[in-house]
Amino acid sequence: MTDDVLLVHGGTPLQGEIRIRGAKNLVPKAMVAALLGNTPSRLQNVPEIRDVRVVRGLLQLHGVTVRGGEEEGELVLDPSRVESANVADIDAHAGSSRIPILFCGPLLHRLGHAFIPGLGGCDIGGRPVDFHFDVLRQFGAVIEKRADGQYLEAPRGLRGCRITLPYPSVGSTEQVLLTAVLAEGVTELSNAAVEPEIEDLICVLQKMGAIISMDTDRRIRITGVDSLTGYTHRALPDRLEAASWASAALATKGSVYARGASQREMMTFLNVFRKVGGAFEVDDEGIRFWHPGGPLNAIALETDVHPGFQTDWQQPLVVALTQASGLSIVHETVYESRLGFTEALNAMGARIQLYRECLGGTPCRFGQRNFQHSAVVSGPTPLQGADLVIPDLRGGFSYLIAALAAQGTSRVHGIELINRGYENFVRKLDDLGAKVERP
Ligand code: EPU
Repeated sequence: MTDDVLLVHGGTPLQGEIRIRGAKNLVPKAMVAALLGNTPSRLQNVPEIRDVRVVRGLLQLHGVTVRGGEEEGELVLDPSRVESANVADIDAHAGSSRIPILFCGPLLHRLGHAFIPGLGGCDIGGRPVDFHFDVLRQFGAVIEKRADGQYLEAPRGLRGCRITLPYPSVGSTEQVLLTAVLAEGVTELSNAAVEPEIEDLICVLQKMGAIISMDTDRRIRITGVDSLTGYTHRALPDRLEAASWASAALATKGSVYARGASQREMMTFLNVFRKVGGAFEVDDEGIRFWHPGGPLNAIALETDVHPGFQTDWQQPLVVALTQASGLSIVHETVYESRLGFTEALNAMGARIQLYRECLGGTPCRFGQRNFQHSAVVSGPTPLQGADLVIPDLRGGFSYLIAALAAQGTSRVHGIELINRGYENFVRKLDDLGAKVERP
């Protein structure tokens, strides 16, 4: 048996129900926020995914005790004995995630210093961290780059400031929030990201005692306080996981009830899903997504920061677009190389051509540069099973969708990467009647 390979016998519509868990892009950050409190925090609806394990390990290295709570999926995090961690241990834990960079502000507040090793995360572009370090410097941090990583100190403490982000980056906005809440004075952040996961992090921080206001023009104002307590919080549902299963239902001509999915955070996705020809029904407990029969429609799609079409929705939906009639245009404006996964779809029978030009309404940061960040998808094209090697988290899930929609058997290598963001996905596939097995 090879743990990292899944055999997928395609051609069976997904049918049934799966449970959507707490958002991967909120939960690890709420766990980091627990470092800022002086009493224990309780986080509910925590998925069993690798990013959570990484952050749990890093928190424990820093003296935070983390244990399961009374209900399933609950974590209790006690930060009363925060301490410095061994640099080599941090390095060993952190290499596979980008979250460690968010430890900077809280550790500077708690210990006066922090260490950040080289960072991992999905290979979907350069993934620089320059905004993060610029922000921390503005608060008063001194950063020294050494061979094994970055060493940070705050010799005169951290002070509120006025910051304008060059781009509404999710991680950098979180960096500002996690640093500003205990900094001295007021911080005003302009051009902030306003993703639902950021609003949920603000809710967490407000429960802890922080003072944060959000304007409608991407401006966030934080008034620093002297101390914060722990929180009790149920993480918002993972809109990216829900959209992934929705795309899988559409591409396989199936029907999936995503229990726990929430309409409010998915409005933009739902509009596009409907334009493509997918059907959905919202009730109090979740959303059912299905293929209503008949041809799907080609569309023009542009990814953007919230409230635009989220970049993580793009890859799964592109698989469904290979089954739509006509030419779809996709313009990826958040990451410069998030279309590389289409090469494998072409090997399965899709017809997707990549372009360096901005093929969308709005010219983006990547136009006139050497990034193939636009795609034209011609459909419908039948897909055949293939040998696939998973490139990144969302691309990996898209390969699974393609393999499920294809005729014949696919051998999907590297499925461990999918565990970074999708809880128990093999069991969920089983529950939906997919024909998958470990070789
Ligand atoms: N950027 C910089 N410099 C920086 C930070 C970002 O140039 O210092 C650029 C990035 O290269 C990118 C853009 O700004 O082109 C946006 O990056 P952002 O900081 O918003 O992304 P992130 O915080 O690193 C989070 C999610 C991603 C999601 C993006 C966009 C987490 C752990 N990751 O990444 O999720 O795609 O926001 O919404 O929250 C995923 O779930 O698969 C995933 C990649």
